[in-house]
Amino acid sequence: MTGVRVAVPAKINLSLRVGPLRPDGFHDLATIFQAVSLIDEVTVAHGEPDSGRLVTVRGQRIDGVPLDDRNLAARAAIAVAQLAGLDDPDVRIEIDKSIPVAGGMAGGSADAAATLLACRRLWEVDVDDAVLHRLAAELGSDVPFCLLGGTARGTGRGEHLVPVLDGGQWHWVVAFDEGELSTPEVFAECDRLRAIGAAEPTLGSDDELIAALRSGSPQELAPLLVNDLQPAALALRPSLAATLELGTELGALAGIVSGSGPTCVFLGADRDHAIGLAAELAGTGRVRGVRHAVGPVRGAHLVA
Ligand code: C5P
Repeated sequence: MTGVRVAVPAKINLSLRVGPLRPDGFHDLATIFQAVSLIDEVTVAHGEPDSGRLVTVRGQRIDGVPLDDRNLAARAAIAVAQLAGLDDPDVRIEIDKSIPVAGGMAGGSADAAATLLACRRLWEVDVDDAVLHRLAAELGSDVPFCLLGGTARGTGRGEHLVPVLDGGQWHWVVAFDEGELSTPEVFAECDRLRAIGAAEPTLGSDDELIAALRSGSPQELAPLLVNDLQPAALALRPSLAATLELGTELGALAGIVSGSGPTCVFLGADRDHAIGLAAELAGTGRVRGVRHAVGPVRGAHLVA
């Protein structure tokens, strides 16, 4: 399809510290996001007259992706149209997915971020990035970071972002799981585990981690990766413990559940080490799929 095409990366959380449940149903977070080279592509084009919004999705394991206005990309198109004063324009949105669906890597948020950028161009809407960022935050907590990319510290729901100086090129091995996890369910499980004393928020700051990012040393970064949602993800999907163990047995410097899971990510010492680790992990046949990914990479950007 010819139209406006935008590439957008997945995210991982190098640190994800979760505060108490807020009255609005969200949790205050302190997180360090990194954008990694698993890329979705979103193309938007003018639709046939009276065709409405048409969403199509290509990729593996996409059955769970809604094609109607529950799709976050469709909601992003509606938000830009409203901003532009367009009344329900006909638009086609094609999503080429490499980011796992409901995998803890912000796949849906990435597609929404890409659609914001693409529709701004398609309809030549004269608004700056700050306005787009505001729309992004209304759509979902991770959408602003998918626009920004790189490495950044996120607070609030995750939508208040400050870029972090990152001196490294980090090599990750991404292990896809057979299943999916619902983000609200993982946050609720985190609250439940805390209420019964089976989990606690991690204390401390990310200063050391930020220093390790600046140093570019994977050996320094490895012991500092932290995810407060990991106990909840493991409780809901116990097989993830074996995946994490397998990766570290095979020589990963560290392994962690990505965001709310169930995708797991492992840190390699360098490119060759990560590629070797990815091959070995895939060879065990014990995870659904394995990718090598590099971070940080840029946020959503136009490619055509
Ligand atoms: O912002 P987003 O719609 O992606 O969040 C999905 C769900 O994840 C929320 O409805 C909420 O249950 C949970 N969440 C949370 N605290 C955050 C971000 C998300 O509790 N900071």
